[in-house]
Amino acid sequence: MSGLRLRGVTKSFGSVKVIKGVDLDVADKEFVVFVGPSGCGKSTLLRMIAGLESVTAGELHIGDKLMNDVDPSRRGIAMVFQSYALYPHMTVRENMGFALRFAGVAKPEIQRQVQEAARILELEPLLDRLPRALSGGQRQRVAIGRAIVRHPEVFLFDEPLSNLDAELRVHMRIELARLHKELKTTIIYVTHDQVEAMTLADKIVVLRDGIIEQVGTPLQLYDDPDNLFVAGFIGSPKMNFLKGVIVEGGVRLPGHGDVVVPAREVAAAGTPVTVGLRPEHFAQGGPAMIGVRVELVEHLGGETYAYARHGQSELMTLATNNARDLAAGDTYEARFDPAELLVFGADGKRLR
Ligand SMILES: Nc1ncnc2c1ncn2[C@@H]1O[C@H](COP(=O)(O)OP(=O)(O)OP(=O)(O)O)[C@@H](O)[C@H]1O
Ligand SMILES: [Mg+2]
Repeated sequence: MSGLRLRGVTKSFGSVKVIKGVDLDVADKEFVVFVGPSGCGKSTLLRMIAGLESVTAGELHIGDKLMNDVDPSRRGIAMVFQSYALYPHMTVRENMGFALRFAGVAKPEIQRQVQEAARILELEPLLDRLPRALSGGQRQRVAIGRAIVRHPEVFLFDEPLSNLDAELRVHMRIELARLHKELKTTIIYVTHDQVEAMTLADKIVVLRDGIIEQVGTPLQLYDDPDNLFVAGFIGSPKMNFLKGVIVEGGVRLPGHGDVVVPAREVAAAGTPVTVGLRPEHFAQGGPAMIGVRVELVEHLGGETYAYARHGQSELMTLATNNARDLAAGDTYEARFDPAELLVFGADGKRLR
């Protein structure tokens, strides 16, 4: 079993630096998710761990072994890609056993490994089918099965669910969480779906433009983001960001009826800031209030979201505690507890 340690890891393609110095520890058996916008370097970092891309500078340890120059086949990892290309002329059984056969493992042992992987993935009734006779989710499970039979110490997944429809994604997500419990291996999982990240991860790594913005448990990132980027990236619907200015005893919101929201003085009076409030903070109500006009209402059944603003200010997303009668054009008292307010400086860093 293995954890990972990355120190000062960078990657350049020619003169373009894509990974700009990553320090990261992954504990043994931990489920770590890399998230971040398209092009931020998630796949590159994963491929460097797999050995499919070289490390330009820095150190990559898997377990206690320096892996920078170790061949991918000797790293004890198995990777599942987004495009999981099964061999179309081979049955599920043959697809799953292929790597073992290639490695010269004896037939009865291959049979045993494939059977065990099929049991874990609930593929036993499908072992003799060809891939074309499987659903997308079943094919995805076969691709995972191919990785499982190799008994890797570390599983790497690069957006494995992005080809699936919404319902299958949720189903596979639950299966992956179960799989992690059963296999008890270290997993590094790349996605740009923050719901997937929140639900699967022991630890989320938020990447942007080749650097780590923040590392933490899903709820640490949600409740206690270090900066505007993480605050805006984690959570759906997104956190509201309102322009404010620090005053004595609080934050004044000039665009939002000039209300003064009591807050700890995290910067000198007069400092321009951005305050963050999550949509659901408005569902709970509270002593602070911004008067808004509703522009659009979304009825999700269990919750009703209002898109609303004060005058010409920024549009806010408000959870309303399922105010089903709310309609566009209504005026509304957007109430919240000032204790929920997060304050960010002009450079985007959280002021605590
Ligand atoms: N072989 C390569 N040569 C040059 N640039 C590359 C190469 N591979 C990736 N890049 C660049 O590195 C950056 C990071 O790419 P990467 O594939 O890691 O992003 P990603 O976070 O996985 O994005 P996505 O969510 O779209 O998959 C991108 O700007 C990409 O264009
Ligand atoms: Mg990618």
